[in-house]
Amino acid sequence: KDYTIKENYIPEIEGMPSLFIGNKSAQTLEITLEDKISGVEVVLSYSVFDDYDVILRNTRIHNISDSTIEIDSAYSANLDIAKGNYDLIYFSGGWGREREFCRSEIQQGAKIDISNARGGSGHTLNPFIMVSEHNADEDKGNVYGFSLIYSGNHSSMIECDQYGNIRVQQGINPFMFKWTLEKGESFVTPQCVMCYSENGIGGLSRELNDVYRTNLCRSKWADKDRPILINNWEATYFDFDEDKLLSIAKRAKEAGVELFVLDDGWFGTRNDDFSGLGDWTVNYDKLPSGIDGLAKKINDIGLKFGLWFEPEMVNPDSDLYRAHPDWAISVPNRISSLSRNQLILDLSRDDVCDYIITAVSDVLKSANIEYVKWDMNRQLTTMGSCGLPADRQGELYHRYVLGVYKMQERLLQDFPELLLENCSGGGARFDAGMLYYSPQIWCSDDTDAVERLAIQEGTAMVYPVSTIGAHVSVCPNHTVGRITPFETRGNVALLGTFGYELDITKLSAEEKELVKKQTADYHKYNELIREGDYYRLASIAENGRYDSWMIVEKTKKKALVFYVQGMAAANGKSRFVKLKGLKAQSRYRIDGKEYSGSVLMQAGLKVAQEFGDFKSRIFLVEENVD
Ligand code: GLA
Repeated sequence: KDYTIKENYIPEIEGMPSLFIGNKSAQTLEITLEDKISGVEVVLSYSVFDDYDVILRNTRIHNISDSTIEIDSAYSANLDIAKGNYDLIYFSGGWGREREFCRSEIQQGAKIDISNARGGSGHTLNPFIMVSEHNADEDKGNVYGFSLIYSGNHSSMIECDQYGNIRVQQGINPFMFKWTLEKGESFVTPQCVMCYSENGIGGLSRELNDVYRTNLCRSKWADKDRPILINNWEATYFDFDEDKLLSIAKRAKEAGVELFVLDDGWFGTRNDDFSGLGDWTVNYDKLPSGIDGLAKKINDIGLKFGLWFEPEMVNPDSDLYRAHPDWAISVPNRISSLSRNQLILDLSRDDVCDYIITAVSDVLKSANIEYVKWDMNRQLTTMGSCGLPADRQGELYHRYVLGVYKMQERLLQDFPELLLENCSGGGARFDAGMLYYSPQIWCSDDTDAVERLAIQEGTAMVYPVSTIGAHVSVCPNHTVGRITPFETRGNVALLGTFGYELDITKLSAEEKELVKKQTADYHKYNELIREGDYYRLASIAENGRYDSWMIVEKTKKKALVFYVQGMAAANGKSRFVKLKGLKAQSRYRIDGKEYSGSVLMQAGLKVAQEFGDFKSRIFLVEENVD
């Protein structure tokens, strides 16, 4: 019907996260289509930035008819890629093993749906896929990326026709989705970020990392050193009192930690995971001076104070549920399935969202709380809302997500200084939607340093390193029982926001000294790690022997190389690890020796095998300008 081009403009998507223009130049093409017969007008929006190889897509559907229209499916983007040999890359997983890299050839006639219908973006399949030329690798070849800025049910459809042409569509999963549009109303889809690189998977990752760090993460913390935190979850689980928490905080302060985070178990009757969710009032039996008293004592020690909430949930054994059983998502006359003994609050309802966000805000106002961990520990099932008429139940999944966004928006408006970390049973909601609200997301409940190599590598394929919640925990590791060197746990956690998740009072004297070194290293290197370019050098998931990655400053004057060996081998050889992203003509210093950039990239940096499993090294690479 029509089209317009808008200069220096990208659309904001009402009630949903989306990229912002910031100080970049961008323009948007809006194409309006009209179907007179059904009375539907559709606006297709395409935005491009001068500085990035991305196209932002989303769709607005208007009901211009005189009657009601039902939408059964509304994808955000479609792209046809001319025929060739292509692979699909996607990220699968489960609890404790999020975002595993998967790659397979797209066969003629294929129809593949990389999707989730569990209510959130999910542990199982992330809302991010790549279509790469079959010959593309980490460093070269054409790769197309599709990332959905959305935290609910998603779908990425990949089809290959009889000629080998590929069609990709990405958007809200049509599973159990039905949206009613009254006359004059519109529906807007989430934003899809389509990205392209001719420099392989690595090139695409770095592009998206930059886009998200610079034009998605709004928090004032996004480009700052985050305070090094210690979280009491793996140290105490539910079994803590004020003395125990203060003893952890004191030791942590001595070792250079800056923020103490009190995790689950501080409220209601929450002494295990059977009760209390929904009752956001302090448990004075455990914490006699309350949250305000505890926060003050933590502040007096010299640490900031942070607190865990799980605002979207309710235990049947809670005062909230007893007062408002209808506030939980459920289907009349059917038994609601519990997961981790909890039900889901119906966030499609304004009254429920208002109550919960007010309860959370009241706690935040009552004490000096500078950080919040917002958790969400179950999938959505038995979907039914008594706030919606029978013929609108298909709107519940999406309205739930809009409720989450609304609550986080309000929280940040009321507490603009707050450092918010999202979390969902580990990393089940590590998606671009959440990054709009929180500059960091807990990456996985699996804190084992070796398992984390693959989890963090998969996560950093799209999401910036600066957003990856990564902590040092004790050994044997609570999830897998593995023993790894303390140094390695620190080196792996440096690829992220960095913190500790252990009882620091129980560490040996030697380990405590290592904590001091690690916290100092964090601040020494954080700007480089947060803002540099991330290059994957070797993956233990592929070679079974060692893992290596590096972060290169944008100026290419400085870099950090990380190396983690797997199981040690008798008579083990040293390895040459080929570095990336340096200037070939420059000379660089590493450990007092000088090398040319081209030697480091073509021949590699020699790394000796060390005695002991899972040993690791960090090398600082600095351009020699003498
Ligand atoms: C989830 C989180 C953990 C911890 C627990 C508390 O599993 O991922 O980090 O907060 O909940 O119940």
